[in-house]
Amino acid sequence: MIRHLSFISILVLLAACQEKQEPAKAPVEEAPWQGWNKYQIKPEDSLAAYGHELIANTSYYLGPKGKVAALTNGMNCQNCHLDGGTVPYGNNYSAVISTYPKFRGRSGTYETIPKRVNDCMERSLNGVALDTNSREMQAILAYMHWIGDDIPKDSTPKGAGIPDLPEMNRAADPNLGAIVYKNKCAVCHGPNGEGQPNAEGYGYTYPPLWGDNSYNVGAGMYRVSRLAGYAKYNMPFGTANYKNQVLTNEEAWDVAAYINSRPRPAKDLSKDWPDIKKKPKDHPFGPYADGLTEVQHKYGPWKKGK
Ligand code: HEC
Ligand code: HEC
Repeated sequence: MIRHLSFISILVLLAACQEKQEPAKAPVEEAPWQGWNKYQIKPEDSLAAYGHELIANTSYYLGPKGKVAALTNGMNCQNCHLDGGTVPYGNNYSAVISTYPKFRGRSGTYETIPKRVNDCMERSLNGVALDTNSREMQAILAYMHWIGDDIPKDSTPKGAGIPDLPEMNRAADPNLGAIVYKNKCAVCHGPNGEGQPNAEGYGYTYPPLWGDNSYNVGAGMYRVSRLAGYAKYNMPFGTANYKNQVLTNEEAWDVAAYINSRPRPAKDLSKDWPDIKKKPKDHPFGPYADGLTEVQHKYGPWKKGK
């Protein structure tokens, strides 16, 4: 019996040794979500196809010379939600259907998808809200369904939205950011962040980053962390993506600080963040629960004790 046991234990030992000798397997990286492209929209989904059009060419339909109505500033949703909101880490729409309606601290209410879309209409596109019953809002909703219906309820796919960059120990610096901007952004977005209007005159080839035609101070991009994360993973356009970045984290923070130190349209935010404890660290307008200044909240550093 004892002999028998020890024979087994030798076998077990041998097996264990063999296991040890096997080369360590690299952890399998889960690929981020990548959306379908517009050519996969079936003809019977024409409402979703129109929704894609509105997101890709917003200014053509809703801009200052809009074919449907003049509601927005001439930018496109797609300027910030790349390729129709399908790009990993490109502020994509993968988690919209799966996570809304949801409570948001900014409004202090449960927000539906049309409410969230209109937030971007009124802030990111510095415009006015779409009627929830309009064909345009219904089309945007149909597109969101087309893109996100297969995502399990309440889950957020890898690569959704805008990533958080590691924080710096110092404040993001607009002066250093001005140098990054000049060297890596101005060629497309213009020396004064004014962008470049398209030849047809209804929108932009390169969208503006500040000034009268840019997002207003209530927009998500006006938070330095959102702009830094977006720029790091997606800019310069055509070169940077989640696999290949051009900016260092510090350059991304600094250029975001520079862009958001420039003038842009105002917005009445008096009803935002009814519970001030829920304000994000980089929300640039007080009052705050922690007594730090607006400047420190806007540019950091946010780490305790620094
Ligand atoms: C100037 C940039 C900009 C433009 C233009 C813009 N958005 Fe946004 N949008 C953002 C940012 C920033 C967020 C928040 C992302 C984050 O915090 O991770 C956001 C979030 C959203 C969300 C919520 C996503 C989620 O997963 O919670 C929806 C829906 C949305 N936008 C729709 C639109 C639509 C539709 C348009 C056009 C009518 C539009 N956006 C135009 C910047 C923009
Ligand atoms: C090669 C030209 C090019 C360069 C260089 C470039 N961008 Fe962009 N950028 C674009 C284009 C084009 C878009 C809109 C993308 C779309 O609509 O598909 C864009 C969009 C943006 C947006 C969101 C829309 C807006 O206007 O607010 C931000 C923010 C941005 N770029 C920041 C930067 C920063 C920061 C740099 C420098 C690090 C930079 N870009 C360099 C072409 C460029």
